[in-house]
Amino acid sequence: MRELFRMDRQNYNPEGKVFRRPSARAIILKDGKVLLNHVSKYDCYEFPGGGIEAGETPESALRREVAEETGRIVIPESVREFGIVIRRQRDSQDPDGIFEQENYYYFCEVTDEDVPRKPDEHEILDGAEPVWVDTLAIPVHRNRIAFERFGEPFIQREMRVMDMADQELRRMSWEMTEEAAIRSLGSADYKGMLAFVKHTLEDARTEGEKEIGMHKLEFGYTRYEHTKRVLGWAKRLYDATPDRTGLRYEELMIAAIFHDVGRAVSAQSGEDHAKAGAPIARDWLLSNGYDPARAEYIAGLVASHSEKGRMRDPDTDRNLLMLMEADLLDDMGLLGIVMDTMIVRARKADADFFDCYNHYERYTHPMQHDCPVVTKEARAFWDAKTESADRFMEQYRKDILFGGENYTGYK
Ligand SMILES: [Fe+2]
Ligand SMILES: [Fe+2]
Repeated sequence: MRELFRMDRQNYNPEGKVFRRPSARAIILKDGKVLLNHVSKYDCYEFPGGGIEAGETPESALRREVAEETGRIVIPESVREFGIVIRRQRDSQDPDGIFEQENYYYFCEVTDEDVPRKPDEHEILDGAEPVWVDTLAIPVHRNRIAFERFGEPFIQREMRVMDMADQELRRMSWEMTEEAAIRSLGSADYKGMLAFVKHTLEDARTEGEKEIGMHKLEFGYTRYEHTKRVLGWAKRLYDATPDRTGLRYEELMIAAIFHDVGRAVSAQSGEDHAKAGAPIARDWLLSNGYDPARAEYIAGLVASHSEKGRMRDPDTDRNLLMLMEADLLDDMGLLGIVMDTMIVRARKADADFFDCYNHYERYTHPMQHDCPVVTKEARAFWDAKTESADRFMEQYRKDILFGGENYTGYK
């Protein structure tokens, strides 16, 4: 099992006899919640678990301890290793000895069944009670306070493991959400296309592109993440549109995935990125068995997606229009504000709240109020973004500027 971290007091004789007391601890998940023990003596939290007894494996100890402390039954197939924390300090029973505790942490799930709890004397004394929490972030915070107050090493250990588990769980839930969304797109090989586009764009993320002043790249903006967001907007726009005359769902989704792939070559060649992307999309589709006429059509959408002047032309293909609108919906609203903030910081290390505000008021804000999208559906999304951004800026102005509620701009 991988080591999460080590807590070594280094207050012992390194030659001393080692006394081991391994334990198993459970990060119990169910319906987006985590089951912890609240310890009222310290007002802190710990993962259920305890010492591995003779003849037990870490996993069998885990099942026994979870049942005793929480009254829940671990589903054996759900048990997955998280990591190990090693604690070493002078043995309190033997001043010449070393006390070593290996704490094995596992993710697991439990059944709905409730069995009688069998807390030991120690747990009753400390007032340990199982409690489901929505997020590990609050227990981390609570343990930090409890550790400052009591200095108990177990509180600190649990705090650090909770913090690491919290990050791991967040990452997993983002991934699962995205994977489910990609599956919901349909039966085409969207996953394969996204992987291809990711790979192509990443390979091209060179210093060359930075040098030509792509300010978005100064803070870790990636074309691939933009691509996925545009795909998301294309899907939302399609779903929100009741009249689908002339719309070609699969072609639209594929064009969204490939729309900016040309960025991989345009920075070096100086060619228009949309035009450069069309042959890349066409080649992938042809070599993956797509009908040449369809491949050609999709390549055409990619080639024309930056000709935003065509949006108000009533003869413009509805799929091209929807792709353009999806592209424009990204980078705006609250995301635009966060992006402005990151750009300001990337350019000026001592940028303050006012610098961020001014940048927003000069860039994203005017663009936000000059709505470029034309369809009713895209406008509804655009207006919702504008409204949330305006509300944010109004409150933010009050927060940073004394008298900000009376701010009138240049007057
Ligand atoms: Fe583009
Ligand atoms: Fe784009």
